[in-house]
Amino acid sequence: NRVPVITIDGPSASGKGTVAHLVAKELGFHYLDSGALYRLVALKALQSGVMSTDEKKLALVAINLDVVFRDEEIYLEKKQVTEKIRTEECGNMASQLASYPAVREALISRQRAFRKLPGLVTDGRDMGSVIFPDALLKIFLTASPEVRAQRRYKQLIEKGLNANIAELQKDIQERDARDSKRGVAPLQKNADARLLDTTSLSILQAQNRVLEWFRECC
Ligand code: C5P
Repeated sequence: NRVPVITIDGPSASGKGTVAHLVAKELGFHYLDSGALYRLVALKALQSGVMSTDEKKLALVAINLDVVFRDEEIYLEKKQVTEKIRTEECGNMASQLASYPAVREALISRQRAFRKLPGLVTDGRDMGSVIFPDALLKIFLTASPEVRAQRRYKQLIEKGLNANIAELQKDIQERDARDSKRGVAPLQKNADARLLDTTSLSILQAQNRVLEWFRECC
């Protein structure tokens, strides 16, 4: 496949989404926030009363997901849910259902469909390892747990949502542990990914580092 892909994987609230989005804009590439897909499955499951332990039903929700990404907005069954999927409730449910192979399998082709010219920037947990193993540039973007809790706090407050920093830190730790320990597509830095620690980097610095690396690859 000659469509260039940049994958940015990493733990929750690391800032990978912000950086990926900006890099995509700068290069005029398409952008896929793969975590949003898991959050959409979570939202739909929560709305329909599907239990977080019911792998079969969750996989069906994933297969039948009616979702549209348009401009900066996300629509589930024609309703705008851009902010709604960002709650910690959705994030936690997403992290639970993301451990089921049947759910992950159901989302593979949907994710690969985003690979279109002139290119794609995508962020998640397994973009470089599973979904786009032949990506041109693979990055593992991280930051210290404290900095990540602060970033998530700021993000939620700016969106007008409630947040408590101690609870966020606990949620982030739990989610990291679950995402790293699961049997399928665990969160980990693969040998072919470059490490980008953004603990003491600004968004602009992180974005520029990715762009530099991309230019080196081309
Ligand atoms: O990145 P974000 O926090 O929005 O992702 C929500 C959850 O979806 C993560 O905690 C993770 O469990 C799951 N996820 C995943 N694989 C991806 C993206 C997200 O398992 N590629």
